[in-house]
Amino acid sequence: MASSTAWHNFPARQQPQYADSAALEKVITEIHNLPPLVPQAEIDELTSLIAASGRGEVFLLQGGDCAETFVDSSPARIRAKLQTLQQMALVLNIGTSLPVVKVGRIAGQYAKPRSLPTEIQDGIELPSYRGDAVNGFAFTRASRSFDPERLLEAYRHAAKTLHFIHNFAAEPLPDWHYSFLPTSNSAIDPLYSRYQYLMAEIAEYLRQNPEKSQFSPPESNFYSAHEALLLRYEEALTRCGVKKDRLYNFGAHFLWIGERTRDINEAHVEMLSHISNPIGVKIGPKAQVEEVLALIEKLNPQNQPGRLSLIMRLGAKKISALLPPLIEAVQREGKVVTWISDPMHGNTISACNGYKTRRMQDIWEELYRFFQIHFQLGTVPGGIHIELTSDDVTEVLGGAEKIDEDILATRYEALVDPRLNRRQSLETAFRVAEIFREFAQPNN
Ligand code: PEP
Ligand code: CO
Repeated sequence: MASSTAWHNFPARQQPQYADSAALEKVITEIHNLPPLVPQAEIDELTSLIAASGRGEVFLLQGGDCAETFVDSSPARIRAKLQTLQQMALVLNIGTSLPVVKVGRIAGQYAKPRSLPTEIQDGIELPSYRGDAVNGFAFTRASRSFDPERLLEAYRHAAKTLHFIHNFAAEPLPDWHYSFLPTSNSAIDPLYSRYQYLMAEIAEYLRQNPEKSQFSPPESNFYSAHEALLLRYEEALTRCGVKKDRLYNFGAHFLWIGERTRDINEAHVEMLSHISNPIGVKIGPKAQVEEVLALIEKLNPQNQPGRLSLIMRLGAKKISALLPPLIEAVQREGKVVTWISDPMHGNTISACNGYKTRRMQDIWEELYRFFQIHFQLGTVPGGIHIELTSDDVTEVLGGAEKIDEDILATRYEALVDPRLNRRQSLETAFRVAEIFREFAQPNN
């Protein structure tokens, strides 16, 4: 029997302990009485599309901030993010010859799991920042304390974001060449020449299909996703579906659980097993084959296509050894999953100057191996999951701008994990398009 409270019987990690439990209960009741954020029909539609991506009929692009902030729900910021995703989707569409389904880490990605419960600065110890839904980023006692009212604010910002996406985001894309060429008029960007053939194809495609340069729902195939981390919040948005026979989480179309909360004997897995949305589980390098098979059995006992995505974040150095046995085991057991590559979270490093960063080379290497392994085994690489922003930040090393350790400090704005900037995101889409063609159409 599906139950939104079954998880209460299991240990739960990464939950903020609120000082004022009456205030928490009041907020949770309020959220419980607020309308759903997404319609069931769209949730079910996304399950079908993810099933199609598992069969290689569409390509899934998941992307957005590591940690969205409440400030991010301004129209200008949402529009910029949608445009970046839309541009990447167009590149991937041309590169793979598949329709692209866009799933934003957006409209609810306000809570973060943390490795350490506290942070020390200048000898002062305060709770770690856990996302805008929990506490503030500013390093003061007041800001870092857990405030249940923020859960209500998270709902409001998610609603505002979705409202904007559905009603006001339609706008022509910025000109391709200007958005991909370097901002300075100096020497021609080597990446521009490298991907010129793809850009020419895109330009021709847009000439023949001018409507495709418009971000225009409902044709836009855009869905929301976030990590289902804060169990009380997720429970408050978990309700009966239209036919009253199943539960859905109406806070987002797609929900995933992270590497730190995917223990099969714990609350997050239990919670996800009771909802009917398409779901994802992050799989890191420590995962054992048997453990992954058990998760698949628990989360998708009916073996329903599109229900479960495995979001692989193994790291560039480990993927070649770890992914093939996992794929082979899943194949052997006859399980249907959609394989997605998250090339970000297995490749996080500390720069000499202390910045948490990632290298474009490692990100591309992991993507390359992901596609290579799938094409060699005859299985389907269903999509990619990327942390990105549309701002010109300097958080990830490398790429056409050749961001190095000295440049990192120029515009490092990540609150949690380093994100690709707009140009690095586009470069990554071009790179994936190229990789896909190399393996899918080897004679071209
Ligand atoms: C994330 O997606 O931001 C995240 C924390 O990922 P993971 O759980 O894979 O570490
Ligand atoms: Co992250």
